[in-house]
This record gives sequence, C-alpha cells and structure tokens, in this order.
Amino acid sequence: EVGLRESLALINSFANEYFIKALWESEEGKSIGLSYFRERGFNDQTIKKFELGYSFDENDAFLKAAKEAGYNADLLIKLGLTKEGDYGKYDFFRGRVIFPIRNVSGRYIAFAGRTLRSDNKVKYLNSPESELYDKSSSLYGIFEAKRSIIKEDLCFLVEGYTDVISLHQAGVEYAVSSSGTSLTPSQIKLIKRYTNNVSLLFDGDPAGIKAALRGIDLLLEEGMNVKVVLFPEGHDPDSFARSVSGTELERYLKEEPKDFTDFMLDVMLADGGNDPIKKAEATRRLVQSLSHITDHIARSIYIERCSKKLEIPEQALYNELNKLLRKKQ
Ligand code: CTP
Ligand code: MN
Ligand code: MN
Ligand code: MN
Ligand code: MN
Repeated sequence: EVGLRESLALINSFANEYFIKALWESEEGKSIGLSYFRERGFNDQTIKKFELGYSFDENDAFLKAAKEAGYNADLLIKLGLTKEGDYGKYDFFRGRVIFPIRNVSGRYIAFAGRTLRSDNKVKYLNSPESELYDKSSSLYGIFEAKRSIIKEDLCFLVEGYTDVISLHQAGVEYAVSSSGTSLTPSQIKLIKRYTNNVSLLFDGDPAGIKAALRGIDLLLEEGMNVKVVLFPEGHDPDSFARSVSGTELERYLKEEPKDFTDFMLDVMLADGGNDPIKKAEATRRLVQSLSHITDHIARSIYIERCSKKLEIPEQALYNELNKLLRKKQ
C-alpha cells in the first residue's frame, strides 16, 4: 500500500508536469506565461531548470485533468491545489505563473503562483502547509543550490523566488530563499548541513534591513558566520542582477559583503554617528547581537574589532556583554 505522503508526492509531481506542459504547449501558456518569464529576463534554459509553469485562467481546468488521471479530490484539497467553495470545487492557482518548491531531495512539496496583473493585491499565492510541506523548515532553491553551496562553502540567503532564479542564471548558484518569511532555526540548520558561511542579500528597503537585522541574531545563535550585502535602494538581487553586467555583478558580490558588525553600525549610525546617545544605543544593540555568539574566541575577536571601530574601550563592551549574559542565565 502506498502511504499518504507518497500519494501526495505523486499528485504534486503530476501537478508540476501539468503546469510545465501548460506553459510550453498551450497557446494561453505560451502567450501569457512564457512571454512573462522571457520578458522579465529568464532564458529558456533557466525556465526549464527551475521547472516553471503556468496555471490556466479557468475555474477548474486542473481539477478536471487530475480527476481524469485518477487522483482523489480529497487529497487535492489536502495539498491546497483544489479549493472547496459554496458553488463547488475550483483550482487554487488560476491564471498565474507557477514556481514549484522542492525539498533537499528534489521532491515537489509545494507551489507558489505569481499573478500577472499589477493590480492584484495578492502577488504570490503559496500552497498551504501539508504532510509534505512544512514552510518554516523549507528553503526555496535548496535542491538546485546544495552542490554549489558545498563547493563554494558559502550560501547566499535572499528574500524571493525570483532572486534565487536570477542569481542562478547569472552563474551564482549558491542562493536560496526563505520565501519572504522571517528566517527560522530549522532553515538555518538545513543550510548548516552544507556550510557555516551565510551572506544575507536582502532587498534594499526598510523591510529588507529589518529582516536582515533579525536574521543576524538567529544565524549567530546557530554558530554561523554572517555577512550582509545591501542593494541600492529599490533593488532586490533579481532586479540588480538584471541592471548590471555579469562582471559588474560578480564584482559587487565579491566586494560588497560586509561583516555583520559593520552592517549594523552603518545602518544604526547612518546619521549622527557622533551623537553620544545614538552611539550608546547602537553599541547596546550591537553587543546584544554579539551576546548570541556562543564561541568565546570568536566573540572576543568581534569585541576587539568593534572597540576599535567605535572608539569605545573593550572593557566597556565586556561590561555590557556580561550584563546581558547574566540576564540570560
Ligand atoms: N511573498 C509571498 N506572498 C506575497 C508577497 C511576497 O509569499 N504576497 C514572498 C515570496 O516568496 C516573494 C518574497 O516574499 O518571492 C519577496 O517578496 P517581494 O520582494 O515582494 O517579491 P519578489 O520576490 O521580488 O517578486 P517579483 O520580483 O516577482 O515582484
Ligand atoms: Mn521587498
Ligand atoms: Mn536577541
Ligand atoms: Mn523582492
Ligand atoms: Mn523582485
């Protein structure tokens, strides 16, 4: 007998092939979905590599096909591919381009569907959690990226699906995405199987900076080495990668990564860095992050560095640090 998870995985496989076929072989898919991807700069090889697809702008085209293929409607509902409303069952993804989400071993665990209309309030629809999909422990792109993460001993963490894809297309294949949600310890542990070095490549907007600050503490707690790459205001890695040449991108990603302490100080002291009150506030926040580092030697190296940069005696930083560490006990 086939287990539930196996049945669900079979259905997602079927759905994935269905969406891919819709993209490449139907008039609607080609003229709307495929041209959307091409217009935003994805080449055909990339579209195929990430197995991108299309969902017809119809009420239940997918449901009909799945039923015809013998799949059980209750399981389709469990996976979130089918919804049940007052007037019957309908497709969850309609008139959207599709991004399959795979786990480390390549299994299709969920889908994301992007709207093609700029007036749509919901840019991305995501499959609900299921027996196959635990959102907080998944990373988009991990299947495609893991070899390269090992080889480079580095992982780029980005916010979005399209950031992963554009970076891969530009030859940077060690990028994964937390899919817009705040980073979790189990996502970090997943990365930790392959490397201890993470660079956060977050969108150059206030939300991106906030997410980076939050991500830093979590990564430090898991013993990771953390750097941050900030993009020009209004850019995300995808838009930036498309706005510069390959060599410019390469140079940016090589030279721009900042140590997390430098990033934090730059952000917090952006204006009025010499104001003692602001400086004290920034120092406290920075020491708070340092308190998450469990490796004492690494921590003392950071303290030394920050003491120099802030022109504050090491002892003052240690006093603050010890206060925080005592509180934690
Ligand atoms: N996201 C989501 N649902 C939304 C908006 C965003 O799940 N309604 C997630 C997606 O994983 C998305 C990520 O958050 O990729 C980052 O959001 P955003 O920067 O707004 O989208 P982009 O990835 O830049 O998408 P695009 O370039 O297609 O606009
Ligand atoms: Mn954003
Ligand atoms: Mn904290
Ligand atoms: Mn973005
Ligand atoms: Mn984007």
